Amino acid sequence: MSSYPELHIDPRRLEADIMALAAFTRPDIPYTRLAFSEEDRQAREWVKARMKELGLAVLVDSAANIIGRREGKEPALGAIRTGSHVDTVRGGGRFDGMVGVAGALEAVWALNEAAITTRHPLEVVVFTAEEASVPGHTPFGSRAMAGQLNMQAALEAPTPDGTPVREALRRLGGAPERLGEARLKPSQVLAHLELHIEQGPELERKSIPIGAVTAIAAPCRGRILATGRADHAGATMMADRADALCAAAEAVLAVERVAKGFPQTVGTVGTLQLSPNMANVIPGRVEMDVEVRSADAGHLKDARARLAEELDLIAGRRRVKLDLEWLSLEEPVTIPPDMVALVEESAGELGIPCTRIISRASHDSARLAPVLPVGMVFVPSRGGKSHVPEEWTDFEQVALGTRVLGRALLKLDARL
Ligand code: HGY
Ligand code: MN
Ligand code: MN
Repeated sequence: MSSYPELHIDPRRLEADIMALAAFTRPDIPYTRLAFSEEDRQAREWVKARMKELGLAVLVDSAANIIGRREGKEPALGAIRTGSHVDTVRGGGRFDGMVGVAGALEAVWALNEAAITTRHPLEVVVFTAEEASVPGHTPFGSRAMAGQLNMQAALEAPTPDGTPVREALRRLGGAPERLGEARLKPSQVLAHLELHIEQGPELERKSIPIGAVTAIAAPCRGRILATGRADHAGATMMADRADALCAAAEAVLAVERVAKGFPQTVGTVGTLQLSPNMANVIPGRVEMDVEVRSADAGHLKDARARLAEELDLIAGRRRVKLDLEWLSLEEPVTIPPDMVALVEESAGELGIPCTRIISRASHDSARLAPVLPVGMVFVPSRGGKSHVPEEWTDFEQVALGTRVLGRALLKLDARL
């Protein structure tokens, strides 16, 4: 058997923290805590207070990432990090992101109670703006840490309420004029471990409580702009129209068709904006956000190329311009085998069943992967549901994930 102390992880404390965070929502659309919103700011203040209660030294970096530090016996060593995000999508859930933050805080509680001081400093991170709230520039905080942010463009981009990131970042305690300083220095952080809900159905179907993530699929996000001609909806005969929405409708179906043509690849049009948006005017202009995702870089590239061809065909047939611009192209991530093994061994030592799994959703860990060893622990999502208010994971399951996280942190501390 292993010589690591058993940490006492309390499902009720996890529940209290997750539900406390859930209270920071737009009341009219639960659960909505968009990045840079007042709800987001308040939730982040709550986390900072909780970190202080746990004895962590709280720092907010220039990208507004919150970092709570627990000193180790050897302060000169690089830090081991764990954490996730607290922003949500519109009408999202209470667990996506929050489980990783509450789990990290609970692991610190347990270390405190067991009076364990690690060799390395341990840092709990809350990343800024993980969800797709600023098109082309999210996840914001982890990109800034990895030096992958197009800083000038990101600062000028609008947040969901229209405020530029530059200004909104200050409200969260960030420093836009020093944004580059959020980039991690060599050896500053030695590894990042993220606890997260699966957001899909695999663990539940297999009745296995823990997933050791082996790869993270890449979302490629872009914009399709359909430009036709606005005209009178009564006086313009069908043969004489250049209806941007009809072309856009075909484009939406093309996204679906193309994604279905590649294994393990998905495609979505998630937004649609019409102009002039009147019942009696033929739409002259339509703007849509498009996403294509896969864990296979080749499929992703080929799907993007095929979509461009299909859009050209639709545009030619309908005499409507269809412009496709990719705003963020990501690469699928392979989790380092020793980090996958770390999660598996941690679960194994605790007697908790674990299986290897591909993450179909994306995460801050994916953006950190080029600069750090990252590992991810998944817990099941009821019915595979996520990014909806019904998102749910039993707190006992969150606690199992947190036990694995805690053990993995101790093992990393011994190993690094
Ligand atoms: O969209 C995603 O994959 C993640 O939940 N941000
Ligand atoms: Mn998430
Ligand atoms: Mn999400």
